[in-house]
Amino acid sequence: MKKLTLSALFLISLTLPAGVFAQQRTTVRVQTSDRDGALIPKEIYGQFSEHLGNCIYGGLWVGPDSPIPNRDGYRLDVFNALKDLQVPVMRWPGGCFADDYHWRDGIGPVAERTKISNNHWGGTLEDNSFGTHEFLNLCELLGCEPYISGNVGSGTVAEMSQWVEYMTSDSGSSVAMERKANGRDKPWKVKYFGVGNECWGCGGQMRPEYYVDEFRRFASYCRDYTGNRLYRVASGASDYDYNWTEVLMKGIGNRMDGISLHYYTVVGPWSDKGSATGFSDECYYQTLAKAIDIEPVLKKHIAIMDRYDPAGRVDLLVDEWGTWWDVEPGTNPGHLFQQNTMRDAMVAAYTLNIFHQFTRRVKMANIAQVVNVLQSMILTRGDQMVLTPTYHVFRLYKVHQDAQFVPVSYTTDRMAVDGRASVPTLSVTASRKDGVLHVSLANADLTVDNRILLTWDEIGAEGLTRARQKALSVSGEILTSASAGDYNDFGVAPKVAPAPMKDLKITAAGVEFTLPAHSIATIEIPLTL
Ligand code: AHR
Repeated sequence: MKKLTLSALFLISLTLPAGVFAQQRTTVRVQTSDRDGALIPKEIYGQFSEHLGNCIYGGLWVGPDSPIPNRDGYRLDVFNALKDLQVPVMRWPGGCFADDYHWRDGIGPVAERTKISNNHWGGTLEDNSFGTHEFLNLCELLGCEPYISGNVGSGTVAEMSQWVEYMTSDSGSSVAMERKANGRDKPWKVKYFGVGNECWGCGGQMRPEYYVDEFRRFASYCRDYTGNRLYRVASGASDYDYNWTEVLMKGIGNRMDGISLHYYTVVGPWSDKGSATGFSDECYYQTLAKAIDIEPVLKKHIAIMDRYDPAGRVDLLVDEWGTWWDVEPGTNPGHLFQQNTMRDAMVAAYTLNIFHQFTRRVKMANIAQVVNVLQSMILTRGDQMVLTPTYHVFRLYKVHQDAQFVPVSYTTDRMAVDGRASVPTLSVTASRKDGVLHVSLANADLTVDNRILLTWDEIGAEGLTRARQKALSVSGEILTSASAGDYNDFGVAPKVAPAPMKDLKITAAGVEFTLPAHSIATIEIPLTL
C-alpha cells in the first residue's frame, strides 16, 4: 500500500478549511412506487469455509471431546452467531484446498481417517476429522444450502462422480450403502456443485480452452440422483480476466448453471498488501475505490455472458470476495489470519449494495471466509470469540435476503483517489418484504457526518400529517466507532458493535437522522401508510 504513489491523491474535504463540511445534508428518495425490482437472492449473503488455517479446526469445529462448549463437535459460540446471521449457503472445502482434497480421506471412523499435509496452506497437518458428514450435517443444522467444490486439479472423474453419488443417492449402490454404513441413512440435498476452483491457477494452471473440455468431461458424470438436482458451477475468472469468461461461455454455455468470479480487494502488490488495522486515510479510500471497482468488472463479465446467453440461463456467482491484508504479525503466513475494522465493514456494505443492483445475473456471492481467514465474520482464539465489524454488516443486512429490490435516488459527494478514481461518500440500498421497507446506508467519509432526510413515494406530495407521523413507528440500527481503524479484539469490550438509532426524527417530509462519519445503518419502515 505505502508503495503506491500518493502524490496525486486529492482528498476534496481535506483541502477545505476545517469545519466547512462539518455536516453534509442529503435527501434519499426511496422509490416505493416502483414495484418492478427483482428479488435479492438470499445467496448473495453466502459464506465460504476452507480447510485453511483455523477456519475449520478451532473455528467451526473443535470436535466432540473438546473442553470448548460444542454441539456434536461444532463450537457453540460460532454456531449460534452463524445461526443468527441466517447463512443461506456455505461453500466448502476450498478454495485451493479443494483441488488437493480427496473426499474419501474424510469419511468413516475418525481415528482411521487419512492424515495429509495441507500443502497449499502452510503444510499444516490435516487429520480429516472434518469431512463430508461433518460439513453437510452442519449445513442442515444451520439451515443453509451446501456448496461443494469438487477436485478437478488432482482428482479423477470417477472420484468426483462417486462423491456426488455418495452424498445424494438413495439407491442400493455400494457407494450409497457406504454412506449409510457411515451413519447417514438418507441422502443429503446438495444443490450447488463446483467443478474445480481457480483452474487457471491453484486448480491446475489450465488454459481456458483446456478447462472447457475438462468441465464438460467431469460435469458429464456429476449426475442427478434420487430427485436431487445438481447446479453445476464452472470455475470462472479472477478480476479482469474477461477472456476466461468469454472462452467458457463459448465452450461450455448452457452445460453449466453458473460461472464463478473471484474478486479480492487488494490495493498494493501481493507482497505488501498492508496492515489490516494500521492504515492511512489515503489507504482507506484507495481500498474503497478498489472495492467498488467490482461494479465495472461485473458489467464487463455480464456483457460477455449476455452475448452468449441472452436468455440469462447461466448465473454469475461471485464465490470469493473480500479484503485481503498482510497476516497479523506473529501468525502463520499460510493461515491468512487478519483483523477486521470499520474499513472492512465499509467494503462489505459498499460491495453488497453493488450486488443488489446486479441480481439479474449475480445469483450468489460468498465472502472469504467465514471464520479466522481473510475478511471473516468471526475470529476465535482458544475458547474466545469475537464478532467482526463485517459480521455486524451481514447482520444489519440480513433483512435484504429474498426481499424485493427498491430503487433509491440521491446525490453524493465523491472522494477523489490517486487522481484517477473516486469514491462516493454515501452508498444506499433498499428492499421491501412483507410490507416493510428496509434502507441500508453507508457513509464512508472519514470526517464528515451526513444529515439524511429519508423520504419515500407513499408519503405523497402533501407530506405526512401529524396523525400519520405519530402512527409511524420507524426503527434503525447503526454501526460505527470512534476511528475507522477500530476493531474487536479478544478479551476486551467490543469497540465496534451495532446500536439502536436514537435520533430518528419523523417529520412531514419523512425520517431525518444523522449518519456519522464512517458509519453504516439499516432503517426499518412499515409501509402501511
Ligand atoms: O480464499 C483464499 C484463497 O483465495 C482460495 O483458496 C483461493 O481460491 C483464492 O485464491
